[in-house]
Amino acid sequence: MIHIGIIGLGWMGRLHAGYLKDIDDCAVCAVCDKNEEAAREVAAEYHARAYTDHRDLLKDPEVDTVYIVTPQMFHYEIAKDVIKAQKNMLCEKPLALTAEEVNDLRGLTKDYPKKIIIDFPERFSVATQEAMAEIGSGAIGDIIFMRGNFRFCMKKHANTHGAWVFDKTKGGGLILESSVHLWDTVRYMTGREVERVAAVAHNNEHANFEDSFACVAYLSGGAIACIDMNGWLPEDAATDKRFEIMGSIGSIYLDEFKNFMTIQSERGVENNPGMFTKSMTHKDVMWHSAIAGGVKRLNEHFIDCLKKDKTPLIGLEDGARACEITWSVVKALESGRLEEVLYGE
Ligand SMILES: NC(=O)c1ccc[n+]([C@@H]2O[C@H](COP(=O)([O-])OP(=O)(O)OC[C@H]3O[C@@H](n4cnc5c(N)ncnc54)[C@H](O)[C@@H]3O)[C@@H](O)[C@H]2O)c1
Repeated sequence: MIHIGIIGLGWMGRLHAGYLKDIDDCAVCAVCDKNEEAAREVAAEYHARAYTDHRDLLKDPEVDTVYIVTPQMFHYEIAKDVIKAQKNMLCEKPLALTAEEVNDLRGLTKDYPKKIIIDFPERFSVATQEAMAEIGSGAIGDIIFMRGNFRFCMKKHANTHGAWVFDKTKGGGLILESSVHLWDTVRYMTGREVERVAAVAHNNEHANFEDSFACVAYLSGGAIACIDMNGWLPEDAATDKRFEIMGSIGSIYLDEFKNFMTIQSERGVENNPGMFTKSMTHKDVMWHSAIAGGVKRLNEHFIDCLKKDKTPLIGLEDGARACEITWSVVKALESGRLEEVLYGE
């Protein structure tokens, strides 16, 4: 049995708790939120113990696995305490707020005996997994170009999450808070590192953050990428996250929220030379569905890794690199130049 303690019981913390409830051989046995009422409420729902200080939750002898689901300005301090307590850890994105913090976490988790996963649920969308199987089999050849976008309604986003979500000093804003998702997908699907970036942005006239930005990047091996983020989708429009990947002998178009994927390949798809194209739509909507989705599958994957002693698909290094790319994007916006992405040790 895996015994989980969740720290941070806002929108995302409660989503994790709901998914964990349906997974065999694991139980949310402790929860923590600075807000005592939230801690008590969620504890009652899951028959768990309630804490208001994460250090007390870490002293709970039954907890072997900790979920850090607070806003990002607290990830680093809490992660350090979790590591000191030698627990398995799921940490929400973005991992931390500065290069010093991610490097410190890198150092502290070198040879770490417990398991760590960073929550990039896109990797567990069915469409992404289908696309990855084709890419892995060589159906599109060498990847040359990848384009991706993430668009949502800022007004709705601001109501769902806490006020920190658009506060750049707290790691909020489209670039720092949200674009890590896109960069992780680019790294995962191309299998390449982001080496240099240039960017343009539109500033929100009412607040100090970028509400739209576009970025071009050189990837390792000479491939290129182009991503954009935008917070101006109209209210009630569905979140829009799509990717296109062009290879030397094929292409993939992928819609993560509609879970749609289409592939064309000169070699043939599913290793079938007579089959040039394939499309699939999977009936689930990641994040926003109470019954399925990438977050649910990521949780199932993590619990499976804990039970079977397997390495989780998304390590601390992936979380660190996604952050480091966003910091270079911010630098590129300030300088107006192409900036090298600096990865720490
Ligand atoms: N992986 C994803 O797809 C995804 C999606 C949404 C949010 N997130 C991430 O999840 C995290 C939480 O986001 P959210 O939308 O749930 O935020 P939220 O504002 O809805 O909730 C945060 C909760 O944490 C509590 N909290 C704050 N500091 C705390 C502390 N030191 N100790 C204990 N509790 C504390 C707050 O009281 C609040 O209840 C963020 O890092 C966010 O970026 C990830």
